[in-house]
Amino acid sequence: MTAASGLAARAPGALAPPGAISPQVLQAVIARLGHRCGLAFGAHNRGGLVQALEAAREWFRLGSAGELPALVETPEGLDWLVRTLTIGETYFFRVPEQFAFLKERVVPELVRTRAAGPVRAIRAWSAGCATGEEAYSIAIALRDALPDPDRWSLRVLGTDLNREFLERAAEARYSEWSLRGVGELERRRWFVPGPGPGLLTVRPEVRRLVQFHPANLVALEAPDAGEGAPHVDVLFCRNVFIYFEPEVAAAVVRRLVERLAPGGWAFFGPSDPLPPRIDGLEPVGGPTRVAFRRTDGAPRRARTVRAPSPVRPPPTRPAPDAEPVDVRELRRRAEAHVARGDVAQATRWGSAWVSREPDSTEALLLLATVRSTAGDADEAIALLRRALYFDPSAVLANYRLAELLAGCGRVAEARGCLTNALAQLAAMEDDATVPGSLELRAGALRDAATRRLASMRGAR
Ligand SMILES: C[S@@+](CC[C@H](N)C(=O)[O-])C[C@H]1O[C@@H](n2cnc3c(N)ncnc32)[C@H](O)[C@@H]1O
Repeated sequence: MTAASGLAARAPGALAPPGAISPQVLQAVIARLGHRCGLAFGAHNRGGLVQALEAAREWFRLGSAGELPALVETPEGLDWLVRTLTIGETYFFRVPEQFAFLKERVVPELVRTRAAGPVRAIRAWSAGCATGEEAYSIAIALRDALPDPDRWSLRVLGTDLNREFLERAAEARYSEWSLRGVGELERRRWFVPGPGPGLLTVRPEVRRLVQFHPANLVALEAPDAGEGAPHVDVLFCRNVFIYFEPEVAAAVVRRLVERLAPGGWAFFGPSDPLPPRIDGLEPVGGPTRVAFRRTDGAPRRARTVRAPSPVRPPPTRPAPDAEPVDVRELRRRAEAHVARGDVAQATRWGSAWVSREPDSTEALLLLATVRSTAGDADEAIALLRRALYFDPSAVLANYRLAELLAGCGRVAEARGCLTNALAQLAAMEDDATVPGSLELRAGALRDAATRRLASMRGAR
């Protein structure tokens, strides 16, 4: 019997080897996860899904893999899988340029346009807020930037698919690790020590501005922005789009734009896979697209002779360095700037490449290298985790992640990554080229990883 005829004879989920998940069951699970929460699984990230499903079988003590599709339909099964399949990597004031823009540009403009009107309110929404750091950062930035914050009605809504993350968000207790972007003065101003060693809690005057609710961005159950307000002035939706198929991402962006008040502001992750143009939004703040503003009803700025408006009119002809259509050209530019050591331009073109090919291990590795060279270890770690989410066997990502984690003192995690890397390298010939590298040999990387792991023995 040929392999092909053997496959054709199998009934869905029936004759798979004991313990294996058949392609049909996998397909049914993927369809249900996509339908229920938009999570997308292509060839690139199926490895992670299979691992999660195997763990789910054990956890829920399922007799056969054929029961997995039905598990996705139960609230506890779906919750469990979402918890396992989503990454909650986040921290306070992630991408500081965006929070600086919020304070220096957005708040003064909202103050100017609202001060004369009857409503002195600002509504913000952190969509895909994970454990809440982003939502509290927005609340702190708003309070900090308003000249008289107590005279304003401020509301920040944090939503996420993962209920466990939201429970932690509502507790508002964070470890030093979540506060790695927060300076000493700000810590004292916005946090109180405790309740346990090494923990800090967000102060009540900030906590009371923020509410958390479960919401699935794919179903978009219209979360209320507070006090019956259907629209928000400020939206953050960062590092969430990687989970979606491009057409789901496009539909989610469209609906998010509808939820923005006229002239409202949107902040996306700099390397989020977004279309080059988004209807109803214009990029503001330069080529890195720090922020977007809803175009219809945007308040006009008074004309002054000297102050140049940071809002650039759309160019009539493409600028010489406008984003190229061809992704190979993005890659070429990113690599050329890396070779030249120009971190700013390498970040720009590397981000553009990642945004067009969000699951490309090579793009993520390149951008991670650039960001770590720029001293932004946190973003580099997040990018490498993302690479491993899409391709758990990306050995170079595991190795680089170990280096970065060790550099931040996270030795136990670093050891785990090196162990994974060594397990992956065990299956490779010594002189095979490590995927994602130009000429690094598997044998050389194995030696380096073994030495590094040995040097970490005993360290905590
Ligand atoms: C990497 S975290 C991003 C946290 C934060 N926005 C940031 O950038 O630091 C991604 C979050 O998106 C959430 N997520 C994934 N799919 C979602 C969906 N369909 N609806 C709502 N949240 C979703 C995950 O649960 C996870 O908490």
